[in-house]
Amino acid sequence: MPSSATDAWRTQDAERDPRRRALASALLAPNAHNRQSWLVDLDQPNVISLHVDTERLLPETDPPSRQITISQGTFLEVLVMALAHEGLAADVALFPEGEYGEHPDGRPVARIDLKAAAPREDPLFASVPLRRTNRSPFDDQRAVATASLETIAAASARDGVTVKSTNDPKMRDPLREHVRRAWDIEVETPAKALESIRLTRIGASDIDAHRDGISITGFFPWFTKQLGFADEATVLDPSSTAHGIMRDLGRDGARTAMAFVWFETNENRRADQVAVGRAYVRAHLQATALGLAWHPMSQGLQEYREMDAARRDIHAALGVPWTGERPERFVQMLARVGYASPVDAAPRRPLASIVRRG
Ligand SMILES: Cc1cc2nc3c(=O)[nH]c(=O)nc-3n(C[C@H](O)[C@H](O)[C@H](O)COP(=O)(O)O)c2cc1C
Repeated sequence: MPSSATDAWRTQDAERDPRRRALASALLAPNAHNRQSWLVDLDQPNVISLHVDTERLLPETDPPSRQITISQGTFLEVLVMALAHEGLAADVALFPEGEYGEHPDGRPVARIDLKAAAPREDPLFASVPLRRTNRSPFDDQRAVATASLETIAAASARDGVTVKSTNDPKMRDPLREHVRRAWDIEVETPAKALESIRLTRIGASDIDAHRDGISITGFFPWFTKQLGFADEATVLDPSSTAHGIMRDLGRDGARTAMAFVWFETNENRRADQVAVGRAYVRAHLQATALGLAWHPMSQGLQEYREMDAARRDIHAALGVPWTGERPERFVQMLARVGYASPVDAAPRRPLASIVRRG
């Protein structure tokens, strides 16, 4: 991992303006496919206006931009924590010009009005620079204690978002199987797999040039290039070794899920999705504080035709019945949890790339 690509994880405090310092922390929020689809306006004093960067969506794997909207929530939650740390109370108005419909448009996701206040330390804020998405296989000999899952749920509960979990093999093991099947479907559906392949950055120069997407580092870049990973046709060919590696990555992840945590909402409005993002990042930060590895596996929740049956089955396995066109409740995120060796921080673009005005 080129250290320049991960500068953002070490330099948050270098910004001189408190709003910018807080934004430099928010930039470290987890976000779908590391697209970092955020734009902020700072042209009004004491206001931050957050918008979706509509050039950075995921049209194939996230057609309704639900995950992109959840990723606005993760950003917002870390931003509010970081502002509190700076002694700035944040009054957040969601979708002040109304929610966008089918696709994000230019309207703000949030207008955040700032007022000086006594600095307030959210206990999870210290974990912001330590949090990682860990896609490695987890230690399959080390269980996740129920008390840890309860701590995660308690730290992340928010109005309108229910956080649930299981480490019970009777529920967990069928879920592993559903998650694996969903992964296989995605890998075997060329248009969907291609979107991820095109956002995979292989080796230091590729990673540094983009500072987004999913990185392949270490000895693996050389190896993966030899196997044809850099060539789309090879990766899509089910008989190739590269394709097999991609398939096994998800399978190993699913197989070593020691517990699952998931997030439900009664409705699926944009505001619900933002609320999920806020709860989700808190859960991940609490898992980090507990020393747990965390990996969302979103494939089975994605809204495209080839995934429809798997999506219903995952909802059913989580105890959510489906009637007609919709589930009784919406499962918005599903993450596997366990113990694993630490992984590198993921790249981030510089703060200037998300500040549109100001
Ligand atoms: C809405 C959402 C969906 C995500 N889905 C997945 C997923 O299916 N698989 C995965 O490996 N990571 C997933 N992630 C994690 C992101 O890929 C990760 O946050 C991003 O690459 C940045 O890495 P970091 O979390 O280590 O900072 C998701 C994150 C969010 C917020």
